[in-house]
Amino acid sequence: MTRSIAISGKGGTGKTTLTALMIRCLLERSAGPVLAVDADANACLGITLGVEPEGTIADLRDDVLNQKTPLSQGAGKLKLFEMGCEQLLTESKGFDLLTMGRPEGPKCYCAVNNVLRSFLDRLSGSYGWVITDNEAGMEHISRRTTNNVDGLFIVGEPTRVGIVTAKRIIELIATLPISIGQIGVIWNRTGKEVDVELGGAVNLGSVPHDEEVFNLAMEGRSVFELDAENPALKAVATILNEKLNLAQRT
Ligand SMILES: Nc1ncnc2c1ncn2[C@@H]1O[C@H](COP(=O)(O)OP(=O)(O)OP(=O)(O)O)[C@@H](O)[C@H]1O
Ligand SMILES: [Mg+2]
Repeated sequence: MTRSIAISGKGGTGKTTLTALMIRCLLERSAGPVLAVDADANACLGITLGVEPEGTIADLRDDVLNQKTPLSQGAGKLKLFEMGCEQLLTESKGFDLLTMGRPEGPKCYCAVNNVLRSFLDRLSGSYGWVITDNEAGMEHISRRTTNNVDGLFIVGEPTRVGIVTAKRIIELIATLPISIGQIGVIWNRTGKEVDVELGGAVNLGSVPHDEEVFNLAMEGRSVFELDAENPALKAVATILNEKLNLAQRT
């Protein structure tokens, strides 16, 4: 059974960092193969995971749509796109990375997006976990590119602005006809517990600010180089082990 988690939140709160830490924790507890999806137009998850993406879905989409040969018209084009998607999966130890790339331009993308959706649905079934790092803000939720996930984790700053932002995301989700098993907030860069009323969401806990994590990013190194006893890594492991209550999807 596949479980899917999407990470959301304001810019710079630590979405990509926590996504990568979660992936390392899941791999360490042998939770089955993981599909990491980088859905941020400014793709950085690969760097944090120490993987060089093969390419992006966006580049592939444009290449295929711009091809003028008769072989690549209509259905042929869609087949070409589907085959290309498969090749964009970047394989690494225990996980694969799929990088979406920049958002769509003004063309009509309905047909390729249908192919992409069914490719992603089919692909997801081969993994124990699908973890998606999203762009900052609420666009991906209102555009409904984040749809029907088992867990939506909002990474928040433990400040007044951070709390208001997390609550806005929770309120937005409540207005949309999408199915999300568990909505949770992770407070990043604080050692303190943040005790606020979150409406329909769960307080998943806090991840401390950690110099080793910060230095990794400064030096462009991956989360797999962190010490096993690293406090931020351990905090993420605790959240995954103790607080996760994902609805079972079939
Ligand atoms: N717990 C932490 N301890 C130390 N540094 C952290 C921590 N979490 C994140 N950072 C640092 O904060 C910066 C922003 O983190 P990150 O890129 O993960 O945020 P983001 O939410 O993905 O940003 P964006 O909105 O631009 O995608 C990075 O330099 C990262 O190393
Ligand atoms: Mg990011």
